[in-house]
Amino acid sequence: MSDVSRPSPSDTGSEARPARTAAVIPAAGRGVRLGPGAPKALRALNGTPMLIHAVRAMAASRAVSLVVVVAPPDGAAEVKSMLDAHALPGGTPSGSWGSTDFLVVPGGASRQESVRLGLDALPPGYDIVLVHDAARPLVPVDTVDAVIEAVREGAPAVVPALPLADTVKEVEPATAPGTPEPVVATPERARLRAVQTPQGFDRATLVRAHETVTGDVTDDASMIEQLGVPVVTVPGHEEAFKVTRPLDLVLAEAVLARRRLNDGF
Ligand code: CTP
Ligand code: MG
Repeated sequence: MSDVSRPSPSDTGSEARPARTAAVIPAAGRGVRLGPGAPKALRALNGTPMLIHAVRAMAASRAVSLVVVVAPPDGAAEVKSMLDAHALPGGTPSGSWGSTDFLVVPGGASRQESVRLGLDALPPGYDIVLVHDAARPLVPVDTVDAVIEAVREGAPAVVPALPLADTVKEVEPATAPGTPEPVVATPERARLRAVQTPQGFDRATLVRAHETVTGDVTDDASMIEQLGVPVVTVPGHEEAFKVTRPLDLVLAEAVLARRRLNDGF
């Protein structure tokens, strides 16, 4: 990686034995909003599967020593060989990626269930856990390191967040698609944040949240909030956007092309 000379939290901690960090990558979704095709995480961006970009983004942090990939329920074997194929050119044995080990487990029907299955597979000895969407393949390593650093400094839950560009309205959702929806409220935009991943956690707190919170959630931090445990934000990054709709693929490939140009000169 191009950042190997830059110190990362694993080097700067003053504790005798810094907490080890693992990343769980939920990658089991179908990608319905992206349109028909392979599961979203397995689709290519500039020739490389989105999931491989996401694993590289986690492994780029020197603090991350294990990545647990949660694969589509029937695709664990395919994902394992895909990871091996992309890791082996570096000369590392099966199941590792440079100094980062990886595991692959099959996922579940919801993101929440997939994350829980990833946590279940996590060996002992990792006290800090990142949860990172495979659908955010381009998150910069500085954002990953900032999240880890904040957990190391004592926050039980940390989310990267950005201010919103759009004004947001709360509505009474229409029952038929395309019909007008009554506006209920306009939250003050300056107090709103769009949150990204990786979200970082004290492992025991995250495991407790997954054991006790059963309602539907769209991110892990909201489960921690439901426990009454504080969650804090750190600055997110515009390149950590989630690939959701077809236009996002165009943007992701443009970001990769720009990086390639910048790396070349
Ligand atoms: N995810 C998962 N298991 C599921 C559903 C989602 O691991 N059962 C993962 C996705 O693979 C993705 C992340 O959660 O990396 C964020 O979800 P999202 O962007 O909604 O992806 P999909 O669910 O695949 O997309 P869609 O909702 O459009 O089908
Ligand atoms: Mg989804």
